[in-house]
Amino acid sequence: MKEDLQKYIINGGKKLNGEVEIDCSKNAYLPILAACIMCDGVVTLKNCPNFTDIDAMLKVLKVLGAKIEKDETTLYIDCKNIEFSFIPSDLTKIIRSSIFVLGALLARLKKAKISYPGGCDIGLRPIDLHLKGLRQLGVEVQEKHGYIYCDATNLKPNIITLDYPSVGATENLIMACVLTSGTTTILNAAQEPEIVDLQNFINKMGGKISGAGTSQITIEGVSCLKGVVYTPIPDRIIASTLLIACAMTGGELLLTGCEPKHFLSITDKLIKSSCKIVSNNDKIYIQSSGMLNSFGFLDTGPYPSFPTDVQTQMLAMATICSGNTVICENVFESRFKVVPELCKMGAKIKVFNNTAFVEGVKNLFGATVYARDLRGGASLVLAGLCAKGYTTVCDIFHIDRGYSKLEKTLTTLGADIHRVV
Ligand code: EPZ
Repeated sequence: MKEDLQKYIINGGKKLNGEVEIDCSKNAYLPILAACIMCDGVVTLKNCPNFTDIDAMLKVLKVLGAKIEKDETTLYIDCKNIEFSFIPSDLTKIIRSSIFVLGALLARLKKAKISYPGGCDIGLRPIDLHLKGLRQLGVEVQEKHGYIYCDATNLKPNIITLDYPSVGATENLIMACVLTSGTTTILNAAQEPEIVDLQNFINKMGGKISGAGTSQITIEGVSCLKGVVYTPIPDRIIASTLLIACAMTGGELLLTGCEPKHFLSITDKLIKSSCKIVSNNDKIYIQSSGMLNSFGFLDTGPYPSFPTDVQTQMLAMATICSGNTVICENVFESRFKVVPELCKMGAKIKVFNNTAFVEGVKNLFGATVYARDLRGGASLVLAGLCAKGYTTVCDIFHIDRGYSKLEKTLTTLGADIHRVV
């Protein structure tokens, strides 16, 4: 495919200055799109971002029978006639979040057949917690011939304790219970802001969910959900990525339409690295000289710990901080695939198990590097922006999954970056 050959050419060393309005969150939009399946009215979703993962999820909804119209960035989603409960493997392989559809399908149609989801090559990404939770809700789950067959005829409320606060499993199990009479409680639930947004969306449609944002979520089943107009929250990962880009290149950046309280763990590290940060309501300002001190140590974990989705961007920044930095990745087992690519650019990184030891260098140097996943790809762009000379980032289709024309945003801020085939 032509998209697979696209790459970025970056001429590094330009400071970033300017203002950017942040897109809606990919990881809020995806479960909210899945939740539309449970509604037999028309849902209007605003500010739809231009991410290929969103396009893939819209394809999944259409295969199930949803009618979708798009007017600029507004989506009109009509799931009145949802009747199919089977998602072909070619679609579920493209996007991991297709697994979110499972809970919503079981709530609406009481059955589903889905193959194992795909996603970034950042780890095994099993779905045992999703399936264990569904079984605890009385769903009959059979795994055979590469497919998962679910029968939710006997779906019933329960108290479920997640072995790990999985974001996807929390979202899936919430959706599975929304239309089931009785009260279900999920303990050790994930607390990410995107889960709070899912709760708010479903409640606006008439659902009765409480506790999202804490480790205990309660879902009181209702008989139906009505169509609404909704705008998901801004993308905290994109906001964090752009703040780190400016910290690395030096310059001044104002982000608008964001939620600074959703990425306090990132701004804390940037301040430690000698950036100036001022935030209020939906805006955040950063000023950096480009001369950074090491932020010392970073440990990823479930929210509100430091997010794994920003780990590789901070790793890229650590390569040019003065001093040594230690980064522990505790969420996914293969999130250091970007290290060999950064080392091609002159970074000094050693990885032992789930820990990266970084010795800061004065400069990185341009090289030809390969994106291996979404956020690792973004971190290579950040490295190219501050490297001496030209950097070619290949396989940028990974980046397009969660950033909308990143080169356009960076060009408006003064970067010298072009997308070429
Ligand atoms: C969501 O993935 C996000 N994706 C990921 O963002 C994010 O990195 C992740 O949460 C953690 O915050 C979306 O929201 C679409 P998990 P998810 O279930 O739900 C293990 C990005 O870059 N686990 O919280 O798949 C799993 O292997 C993407 O935007 C099980 O063992 O993450 C991992 O080690 C990447 N069994 C840990 O839990 C399960 O059944 C966290 O996974 C499920 C998960």
